[in-house]
Amino acid sequence: MAATIEIIQADITTLAVDAIVNAANNTLLGGGGVDGAIHRVAGPQLVQECAGLGGCETGDAKITKGYKLPARHVIHTVGPVWQGGGKGEPGLLESAYRRCFEVAHGHGLKSIAFPAISAGVYSYPMREAAVIALSAAQEAMVSYPELERVVFVQFNAPAQQVYREAAERLGIKAH
Ligand code: AR6
Repeated sequence: MAATIEIIQADITTLAVDAIVNAANNTLLGGGGVDGAIHRVAGPQLVQECAGLGGCETGDAKITKGYKLPARHVIHTVGPVWQGGGKGEPGLLESAYRRCFEVAHGHGLKSIAFPAISAGVYSYPMREAAVIALSAAQEAMVSYPELERVVFVQFNAPAQQVYREAAERLGIKAH
């Protein structure tokens, strides 16, 4: 079955998918934004498991259980801090998405939901970030036939519109 790409407006912590992705920092010990929201809903066991992971390099990803979240797992990744675009940010953001899909594949996961990694506190321009996110999903759907749903979750309508326009430019049919 071909995977579907969905672009939705929601709080990612409410989604009952195989994994939600956390836009974390190198410590994996929690923070603000979507990271704070995920840890609040998952409960204290999540940070306990994260503490045993030894942090995460920028562009890498690590998986934990979802604890009190409706999602079965959390894939924690660290996107780059935007510094103008000349410090390897696009490659690092591509790597973050690619590693999330690799980790999901390693665990046989079929549905995964992403926030706009790096596009909040880390200031990555949403338009460019959306193109990288959607392109990574397109590639993963070719490599990993078990994937059924890739969900891109935005917090507000303008961000959702940016994703929809990016999908259109890339010729991606999104639901
Ligand atoms: N559901 C979906 N999207 C959300 C949610 C939510 N509950 N909350 C925020 N967003 P950010 P970053 C959106 O700042 O830029 C943390 O402190 C938000 O509107 O969470 O990768 C970490 O510990 C934005 O579009 O992640 C790091 O230190 C997107 O999620 C740092 O922030 C990402 O924003 C990571 O910064």
